[in-house]
Amino acid sequence: MRRKLIAGNWKMNGSLAANAALLNGIKADLGQPACAVAVCVPAPYFAQCKAALAGTSVAWGGQDLSVHESGAYTGEVSGAMLRDFECTYVVVGHSERRTYHGESNELVAQKTGSAIKAGLTPIVCVGESLAEREAGQTEAVVGAQIDTVLAALDVDDVARIVVAYEPVWAIGTGKTATPEMAQDVHAMLRAKLASRNAAAAESVQILYGGSMKPDNARELLAMPDIDGGLIGGASLKAADFLAIIKAA
Ligand code: 13P
Repeated sequence: MRRKLIAGNWKMNGSLAANAALLNGIKADLGQPACAVAVCVPAPYFAQCKAALAGTSVAWGGQDLSVHESGAYTGEVSGAMLRDFECTYVVVGHSERRTYHGESNELVAQKTGSAIKAGLTPIVCVGESLAEREAGQTEAVVGAQIDTVLAALDVDDVARIVVAYEPVWAIGTGKTATPEMAQDVHAMLRAKLASRNAAAAESVQILYGGSMKPDNARELLAMPDIDGGLIGGASLKAADFLAIIKAA
């Protein structure tokens, strides 16, 4: 049985004061969650998360990392820097980075490798745009995204990634893939994982992301290949994030 993972992606939101309120709210009512829980936060807040979350069942992580280990790369943050603050996870290849920062499948594959090398668990994001879905290209687009990552990974490292299927048209729009639509893509992703490493495919968590909320989480998380959620907007409200954790 794969343990479910509910990960918040705060994106570029937060402040010391707002984060303190959010993290206190989560900790106050978390109890003993049945699933794994994480928050992926802007880099300036790693220290705050470490101080607030060490010793709790909530892990923390980043939203991107450099492919370089150190050096003259102004503005970049390395995997080792994330590890310095005891980050467990790092989001890699989010559609917002692919769209606004021109990240290619190849760069995302490189970042996945850099994260593993640094001792982080990459949450590798894949997903099609609305135009691609309507053109019947979902499997081709998402398949190429995951294939590029898998081809660059050592076979043994396949087990060290988390995959997140985030249809771009569902992110921040209030539109969610139906559980069946998401399940179809998740099953395809698991088959791709299995073709590289059959044993690893059974253990890798494949998350769904895109307008997952308290009122739709349960039916999405009930699908056989949906192993959790990558939550944007709803992760910024303690009550909503906790409700999704309870649904898992
Ligand atoms: P929303 O939950 O706000 O749609 O964002 C999803 C997402 O992009 C998580 O990475």
